[in-house]
Amino acid sequence: MKILVTGGAGFIGSHLVDQLLERGNQVVCVDNFILGRREHLKDAMEHPDFSLYDLDLLELDKLDGLFERESFDAVFHFAANSDIRAGTESTERDLQLTFMTSYHVLECMQKYNVRKILFASTGAIFGEQAGRLREDSPALPESLYGASKLASEAFISAFSGLYDIQAWVCRFPNVVGDRSTHGIIYDLLEKLDGNPAQLEVLGDGKQSKPYMYVHELIEALLYIFENADEKMNLFNIGPSDRTTVADIAKLVLEGYGATQDIAYTGGSQGWKGDVPTYEYDTQKLQMLGWGPPATSFESVKLAVKKIIETR
Ligand SMILES: NC(=O)c1ccc[n+]([C@@H]2O[C@H](COP(=O)([O-])OP(=O)(O)OC[C@H]3O[C@@H](n4cnc5c(N)ncnc54)[C@H](O)[C@@H]3O)[C@@H](O)[C@H]2O)c1
Repeated sequence: MKILVTGGAGFIGSHLVDQLLERGNQVVCVDNFILGRREHLKDAMEHPDFSLYDLDLLELDKLDGLFERESFDAVFHFAANSDIRAGTESTERDLQLTFMTSYHVLECMQKYNVRKILFASTGAIFGEQAGRLREDSPALPESLYGASKLASEAFISAFSGLYDIQAWVCRFPNVVGDRSTHGIIYDLLEKLDGNPAQLEVLGDGKQSKPYMYVHELIEALLYIFENADEKMNLFNIGPSDRTTVADIAKLVLEGYGATQDIAYTGGSQGWKGDVPTYEYDTQKLQMLGWGPPATSFESVKLAVKKIIETR
């Protein structure tokens, strides 16, 4: 297939590009490098079936030109403002980078008859709720990022019905691994680089979420893409367990070889807009035939090792 990956220079997108190329696809990557990095595409750049466009998805005329030139079989839409905290500082940021990018992609897809989209959604669409989150749990986002992802999901559903587009909307857990440019492991390692007397950790350490290693996430995405055949496919992806912030801090200290005490800033929420605790019900994905080989704790442990090795 000839696949457009938006946000393909980012953390997850670049691993996806590598995997799609390895599986024999032709891959076109679009990124404006607002968060992505060229070095993430070092291997892909040497591949004859890969091409890269330094292009802002908010510039609709340029995106339109690209769709007109290339004939895509599918779009994997990963571009967004993935830094949820940064999105709380300006109310415009997620509307543009997380929602309008999706709308522009959909506009071009319907105009140029591209009939398949896989969308990188998130548990942040749900907000904080008691109990395990199912695909049909109420969605009450608490961040502008979550709201913009939910609005993108709604537009994908409407475009799917109106313009005969098949969609795979996948709600990721917290994804960890090398090439990440933010997130808790990255933040804690940055702090340790400054050799502080104590390692400051946001919140009370009891925040607890499902974490998944990036390669496993991509296996799940491609499995869903190949095996789920509804017009509108909706999946929560994740391990069924969770890892606490306190356990992550301990793993980072251990991996770094540091012995500082941990100083918690206190409060149940690390920062405004963060959902401190959530858990997925992944029965639907298991029924389709995919279950994660690793637990959340194992994924975090592996990610700490890989990030330290490659930074
Ligand atoms: N990392 C996670 O834990 C996680 C969890 C849930 C969902 N997601 C979603 O998965 C996707 C990938 O996340 P990531 O962690 O790899 O983030 P990332 O920031 O590394 O990747 C996003 C990419 O999109 C690009 N981008 C942003 N705006 C753009 C624009 N206007 N035009 C062109 N490119 C643009 C950025 O430069 C970046 O390379 C995102 O949609 C994110 O919301 C990530």
